[in-house]
Amino acid sequence: MLIRNEIASDTPAIRAVVTEAMRMLPQSTGTEAAIVDRLRAEDALTLSLVAEDGSEVVGYLAASKARIGSQDGWGLIGPLAVLPSRHRQGIGSALMAEAILRLRATCPGATLVGDPGYYGRFGFRAFPGLRIDGCPSEVVQALPFDATEPSGEVIHHAAFGLDQQG
Ligand SMILES: CC(C)(COP(=O)(O)OP(=O)(O)OC[C@H]1O[C@@H](n2cnc3c(N)ncnc32)[C@H](O)[C@@H]1OP(=O)(O)O)[C@@H](O)C(=O)NCCC(=O)NCCS
Repeated sequence: MLIRNEIASDTPAIRAVVTEAMRMLPQSTGTEAAIVDRLRAEDALTLSLVAEDGSEVVGYLAASKARIGSQDGWGLIGPLAVLPSRHRQGIGSALMAEAILRLRATCPGATLVGDPGYYGRFGFRAFPGLRIDGCPSEVVQALPFDATEPSGEVIHHAAFGLDQQG
């Protein structure tokens, strides 16, 4: 399996992987593939990584820029998606490891919204005061790359507002 940057011809496969994976998530809005399309259209994908096995795209991870409180340049990871037929084979972990490695070179830290039961294994955790309006505090998590204590609202790209529009 290879983790690599997306290329233009991956777009339909990325849409399919994200759509199929997110169907398994009860809290999914069904807008995640459209969010990726919009981030791409606005040149806001800091990372757009695919996991390729043979010639098939089996996993995907996006990252974009976010501000936390007054600090710019955080790497916001999401969506992360693995084809349901390929779960529990380390694909999500491989995408996360590569994303963290790359973000570490350029960002004060990484942040995301997701299940602490999964993301805790990569060092993500909630912080007092770290928040996104409308999200339970335990799912808003960060991984600072230095001694920074992230605090304040996570201001993400407007594409994530597609969630609110249904
Ligand atoms: C979450 C997801 C990306 C994990 O991908 P994966 O390739 O199966 O992950 P890995 O193989 O690296 O790790 C699997 C491990 O994580 C665990 N895991 C997966 N989802 C979990 C969750 N929500 N809470 C706790 N553990 C979880 C599995 O039980 C497995 O544990 P094990 O290693 O002890 O067997 C994948 O399940 C997925 O696409 N889910 C639907 C979309 C989604 O939830 N995306 C994240 C949005 S926040």
